[in-house]
Amino acid sequence: MLRPIPTKRKLDDLRNYTIVGADIPETEIFRSDALIQSLSESPRSIGCIYYYDDTGSALFERLCNEPSYYLFRAEQEILTHHAKSVADMTGPASLVELGAGNAQKTTLLINAFMENHGPTSYAAIDVNRSILQKAAENLLSMRPDLNFTGIVGVYQTGLQQAATVTGPKLLVCLGSSVGNMYDDELRDLLHQVRSLFAPGDYFLVGIDLDKSSDILEAAYNNQSAILTNLCVLQHLNWRFDGNFNVFQFRHVAFHNKPLRRMESHLEAVQTQFVRLDKLGFSFFLEKGERIRTEIMRKVVICDFSKIFMNHGLSLVHHWTDHAKRCAICLFEVVNM
Ligand SMILES: C[S@@+](CC[C@H](N)C(=O)[O-])C[C@H]1O[C@@H](n2cnc3c(N)ncnc32)[C@H](O)[C@@H]1O
Repeated sequence: MLRPIPTKRKLDDLRNYTIVGADIPETEIFRSDALIQSLSESPRSIGCIYYYDDTGSALFERLCNEPSYYLFRAEQEILTHHAKSVADMTGPASLVELGAGNAQKTTLLINAFMENHGPTSYAAIDVNRSILQKAAENLLSMRPDLNFTGIVGVYQTGLQQAATVTGPKLLVCLGSSVGNMYDDELRDLLHQVRSLFAPGDYFLVGIDLDKSSDILEAAYNNQSAILTNLCVLQHLNWRFDGNFNVFQFRHVAFHNKPLRRMESHLEAVQTQFVRLDKLGFSFFLEKGERIRTEIMRKVVICDFSKIFMNHGLSLVHHWTDHAKRCAICLFEVVNM
């Protein structure tokens, strides 16, 4: 007899989920004062938060499937082999994830926690509401007993909400998202984590290890990476009524070896006058001038763990993929 094909359950049929913060005005998430400031500085830059409207989130998923973009597969490999060890080391904990995206890799962690420790709650923080709904739908169709909360907002506000959960917590940040932070942003995040979390809580962090320029530059110069970068301008156009002409920019991504990071830029191929009408902001961009759109730090574990230790986060263990391209580090919140 033929078995009926299981159909994916719709989010509305699933009970254990909440999405909070969906009513936060997007002007509080995509703050125009910060954008105007970064576009006025020399060199100009755009915060990497502007990668993530619905189109950008879909393009990020596509990037993760590019053969040269090893980061997703490396973290997936690590969690496939070691998620259970993470659950063993931390003991039962509520999971909170920064920049969860579609939470595809987190499924491995959630499964390990539920198998080791029984009912588990998971709070996913992200600026993109739609991707949180997708994460909820994927996770709950596999684990209907998971207690899922989506928190729409930036890391700072999301963390404040998530920290109110009682009991031990495991904060998670995958996809090398900490690598997108400048020094001061990383310091501020770690300071906030240390002030909101208690000794005995943990922080699991995915990082991209320093490696040859060839591998790095291939990962950030494939078709999906180029599209993702250019789409930042389209995001600014629809959000702020802008006139960026995407065809007058070229994608530039290179390994900045002295600063141990990859950088993505958009270079103007001709002089242009840019307006963001909703912000009442405009500027001239010279031919050849670049706007930096993202940094991606490439890390040496001992340097990185020192920064965490300075904020009361002690490295307990780290795991790498077989090619040693990426690492996932488990830090414990300790008394300072
Ligand atoms: C590099 S992707 C990683 C997604 C997922 N964690 C993974 O490893 O595949 C970064 C995610 O963080 C979200 N994000 C970026 N900046 C953020 C911020 N400042 N606050 C909250 N979420 C942010 C994006 O919407 C995106 O889903």
